[in-house]
Amino acid sequence: HTIFILNGPNLNLLGKRQPDIYGAETLADVEARCRALAESLGVTVAFFQSNHEGVIIDTIHRAREEAAAIIINPGAFTHTSVAILDALNAYDGLVFECHISNVHKREPFRHHSYVSGRADGVMAGFGTEGYELCLRRACSLLSKA
Ligand code: DQA
Repeated sequence: HTIFILNGPNLNLLGKRQPDIYGAETLADVEARCRALAESLGVTVAFFQSNHEGVIIDTIHRAREEAAAIIINPGAFTHTSVAILDALNAYDGLVFECHISNVHKREPFRHHSYVSGRADGVMAGFGTEGYELCLRRACSLLSKA
């Protein structure tokens, strides 16, 4: 199986951006840990980051042919993007929504997610470990499928 891990806007700045909220680890560190875990679980991961909504949508379209599951941290597009929801609704595989911070403990505008209604699971507030937890869950569901 191939699993896409998609990261939205500003996540390229992980480690430098508000480390009190998002931690000191970089996105490259997260990618390396996910790759190591994927190898031990016997799956392939394709890791993406874009600051552009349309590029994220194009990548979700690619997943229709290429991925059995998507783990997505849409960043601020979580709270704004009907277009990303529509793209996920056109995708048949598993979807996990992953937030590093606990969005429910933060400003009210972060409490609503367009993506959650489509997601098979939602992770928030587990730091960057959340990506690995999503990966484990995706693999356990895929191995039962
Ligand atoms: C985030 C939470 C969002 O509200 C925010 O806009 C982000 C990151 C998270 O991972 O905690 O960019 O998705």
